[in-house]
Amino acid sequence: MDKFIIESSRNLSGDINVSGAKNAILPVMAACLLAPGKSILRNVPGLIDLKTMAHLLRVIGARVEYGDGFMSIDSKDVCYPEAPYELVSKMRASIYVLGPLLARLGTAKVSFPGGCAIGTRPVDLHLKALEALGAKIDIEQGYINAQAKRLKGADIHFEKSSVGATINTLMAAVYAKGTSRLFNAAMEPEVDSTIDFLNKMGAKITGQGSTTLTVQGVDDLFPIQSDMIPDRIEAGTFLIAGALSTSPVRVCGCKPEHLTALIEKLREAGCELQIEGANITVNPPKKIKPCNILTLPHPGFPTDLQAQFTVLMCLANGVSLVEDTVFPDRFMHVAELNRLQADIKMERNIATIKGVNQLGGAEVMATDLRASAALVLAGMVAEGTTVVSRIYHIDRGYDRIEEKLSGIGAKIRREQG
Ligand code: EPZ
Repeated sequence: MDKFIIESSRNLSGDINVSGAKNAILPVMAACLLAPGKSILRNVPGLIDLKTMAHLLRVIGARVEYGDGFMSIDSKDVCYPEAPYELVSKMRASIYVLGPLLARLGTAKVSFPGGCAIGTRPVDLHLKALEALGAKIDIEQGYINAQAKRLKGADIHFEKSSVGATINTLMAAVYAKGTSRLFNAAMEPEVDSTIDFLNKMGAKITGQGSTTLTVQGVDDLFPIQSDMIPDRIEAGTFLIAGALSTSPVRVCGCKPEHLTALIEKLREAGCELQIEGANITVNPPKKIKPCNILTLPHPGFPTDLQAQFTVLMCLANGVSLVEDTVFPDRFMHVAELNRLQADIKMERNIATIKGVNQLGGAEVMATDLRASAALVLAGMVAEGTTVVSRIYHIDRGYDRIEEKLSGIGAKIRREQG
C-alpha cells in the first residue's frame, strides 16, 4: 500500500488549483441513468471513488468513458438494476443508483452500504422516502429490493437533514406521477448542483436554497452536457494548509460562497483572507487563535473539514473545542494526531484541543478520507519526517494531492507500497 513521506515544510506559498467536486459528481453520474442517451460531464478529476461509480454504472449497463478531465455516460441500454455488494461496500455513495433505477426501470436491487470509519452510515431516511413515493421495499440477505410500477408524488418529511437521502429522493421523484414536496431537505451545494443538473435534463424542481423542495413529475428526461462545480472540501483543505503556513497561499478556482462557515472561522483564528472572484488568498496569522467548532448541515461548519481544522487548532495559542454533531464518531484522526505530539482529549463527540508550540513527525495511519488529509497537513507542519500509510483513503477524494501541495512548497513524496 502506498504511503506519503512528508518533511517539515511550513513555508508554503503560491497558487493551488481546486478540482471538480467528488460529492457533486457522484450523484450526477447516477442521475445520468434517468435520461436514455449520452451525457457529458466536464471538470471531472481522477479519483478512486469516481472510478468505482463508473464501474458500477457499467455493471448496470451504461457505457462510461472517463479520463482527461471529462466523463461520458451513455445510459441508453441500462438494463441490469443491481448494485452488487463488492462495489457498494467499497463506496457508500453507490446507494445513489437506487432512486434512478427505481424511477426508470421500476425495480432495483442494491446492497446495503456498510459502515465506515466515521460511523454506521444508515440509509433509513432514503428507504422511508422511497416508500412514501409508493415503492415496495424488502431487505433480503443484505440487499435492498425495491419495486414500483410507477412512483406517485407525495409529501416527504425528513427527520434529519441528509444529503444522500435528499438527492436519492429527488432522483426518484422526477418521474413520479404528480407532485412531491420534500421537507427538511439538505441544502449542501452538492444538492443544489444535482438539482441544476436534473432541471437541465428536463426535470421540474423548485425551492433551491431552502429546505423545502417541490418536484413536478415529468415523463421524459434528456441527456445533457454540464460542468461540475469545484470541490469546496478540497478548497477548504488547501485554505487550512495556507493558515498553517508562514506565507500567503492563494486557492484558485473555487466558489467562495460555498465556504462561508470556514472563512469565518479562519478569520476568527487570526487569518486575513482576500476574496477575488473564484480565488481566495489566505494570509496566515503570526499566532493562531483558538476557536470552537460545531459541525452542522450546510450552511453550518462542514463535518468534512472538521479533521483538517482540528490540525490548525493543535497549534493555536489556547484551548479549542471541536464537536461533530453530524458524525459523532468522526475522530479517528485524534489518536494519530496525538502520536504527532498534539494534545487532544476526547469526551463523547467533543475534542478538547490544547494548543502546543510544535508537532513532531512520526509514522501515522490514515483511516478515512478526510482524516488522511488532516494527517498530511499535520505532517507538513510537524518537525522532522512524518510517514502517512494507507493513503488509498486520500486518493478516493483528492486528485494528486502530493503534486498540488508540492506546487506550493510542501516536501511530500509518494512511496509505492
Ligand atoms: C454526504 O454523505 C457526503 N458524501 C459526506 O462526505 C458528508 O460528510 C455528508 O454528506 C455530510 O455532509 C457524499 O456526498 C458522497 P448524510 P451522506 O446523509 O449523504 C444520518 C466525504 O468525506 N443519516 O447527509 O451519507 C447520517 O448518519 C464524505 O466526502 C441517517 O441517519 O451524509 C449522518 O449522521 C464523508 N439516515 C447525518 O444523517 C440516513 O438514511 C448526515 O448524513 C442517512 C443519513
